Amino acid sequence: MRKPIIAGNWKMYKTATEANEFVEKAKGLVPNTDNVDAVICAPALFLNQLVTSAQSSPLQIGAQTMHEENEGAFTGEISPVQLADLGVKYVIIGHSERRQYFNETDASVNKKVHAAFANGLTPIMCVGETLEERESGSTGQIVETQVEQGLSGLSDQQVADLVIAYEPIWAIGTGKTATAEDANEVCGTIRKKVAALYSQETADKVRIQYGGSVKPANIEELLGMEHIDGALVGGASLEVESFVKLLEAGS
Ligand code: G3P
Repeated sequence: MRKPIIAGNWKMYKTATEANEFVEKAKGLVPNTDNVDAVICAPALFLNQLVTSAQSSPLQIGAQTMHEENEGAFTGEISPVQLADLGVKYVIIGHSERRQYFNETDASVNKKVHAAFANGLTPIMCVGETLEERESGSTGQIVETQVEQGLSGLSDQQVADLVIAYEPIWAIGTGKTATAEDANEVCGTIRKKVAALYSQETADKVRIQYGGSVKPANIEELLGMEHIDGALVGGASLEVESFVKLLEAGS
């Protein structure tokens, strides 16, 4: 059975003080991690302090993006080596906001996914369609292409270890959630694609999250779906109480 993974994506929210207060409060409240993986993907500035304060707690710390090179003259960027050295475990790759505002493409996502694995980080690779694409009926084709190109060249083992986040762009921060059935259908399409590219065994292992206006009120229904193994959560991960409720639903 796949272990659910609930990951908060704080985006560009919180000060260092607020981030510390969150982790100090949350670490005692996070439920037993035998049943659910609990991750906070924080702004890069706070990763060092949060890894330290979350140590010996079930909470794991992730980054929101990274560069694909291990080092170099890339002003302002953060490398996978630097993340791994801090003790960061997960890294979100190819979030739709990175694709939209920072020109990330399936090709750069693929390079970053490889770089993450090469440095012992677990990538959370994001895919998802725009409203226009959904309305034109091309959701399946869009996510299949993103999956195929994003995973290109990975081994079976790497794909089995990876997390894929299906985030329909029209549902992010809008309060509009895909229905649990619709989300499950697309997550099922993703799993089928992984089975076609790799094997059914690998497809059965890869964890697929849903993301887009996930909150305590809808998490149980989403997690009850066959192909949904967790959630990537923006707004509802910013408050300890709601983040903990999401974890409890997953455990
Ligand atoms: O990565 C999480 C995200 O994009 C969803 O954000 O605020 O709709 O939960 P939100």
